[in-house]
Amino acid sequence: MRLETKRLILRKPRKEDWEDIVEGVGNLEVSRNLAVVPYPYDKKEAMKWIAKCIREKKTNNYIFFIELKSEEKVIGVTQIHIMEGVATTASWINKKYWRKGYSLESKVSVLDFAFKKLKLRKIESKVFVENIASNEMLKKLGFKHEGTKRQTVISKATGKIHDANIYGLLREEWLQRRSAIIEAINRLINKQQR
Ligand SMILES: CC(C)(COP(=O)(O)OP(=O)(O)OC[C@H]1O[C@@H](n2cnc3c(N)ncnc32)[C@H](O)[C@@H]1OP(=O)(O)O)[C@@H](O)C(=O)NCCC(=O)NCCS
Repeated sequence: MRLETKRLILRKPRKEDWEDIVEGVGNLEVSRNLAVVPYPYDKKEAMKWIAKCIREKKTNNYIFFIELKSEEKVIGVTQIHIMEGVATTASWINKKYWRKGYSLESKVSVLDFAFKKLKLRKIESKVFVENIASNEMLKKLGFKHEGTKRQTVISKATGKIHDANIYGLLREEWLQRRSAIIEAINRLINKQQR
């Protein structure tokens, strides 16, 4: 599966991406917000995980490596996982590339893919309560806060137990929201080009 936006290509994992993955998710400021990524994170971990992603043939798990066209570099990963009728999304972006709209830009095509191609009804996301960036990003995309689970996830990187906010986005909510998000991204890109 391959998706494309103005600045990004969302594509399948490749073995040679390992260095970019280590640079991105090897940063504790990224991994401390995730459940399953160990710290420290090295080449061996990255190769093992990429090989697993490449082997993955199940149609309930869509993993996209986010490549920045201008640098031909993988700057993040985004995923849709469907289990027992519930679709969830999660992602990370390399810290060097934060606050440039790359996460929003990748989410637009992933959400379009989920709602239009996969015809999903709803997507959920689970975020540590302390994770301001991700909580804000989901709200910006139109996700609604549906509740908070207490002491529900352990971050492998830090060993810390977290409360997590649960968010949900319905197909019709996304269809209403998407053009405003695309306009916001375009404004940001134009500003950056000036
Ligand atoms: C969450 C994350 C993916 C956001 O990536 P990003 O590319 O920097 O996000 P964007 O630039 O697209 O920002 C989109 C919106 O998110 C919100 N946001 C992002 N970073 C923020 C921050 N530090 N503080 C407050 N809001 C923030 C804002 O609403 C922002 O829109 P704006 O810039 O117009 O205000 C990134 O911070 C990250 O990788 N964090 C670590 C891993 C993680 O938390 N993953 C999510 C686990 S569920």
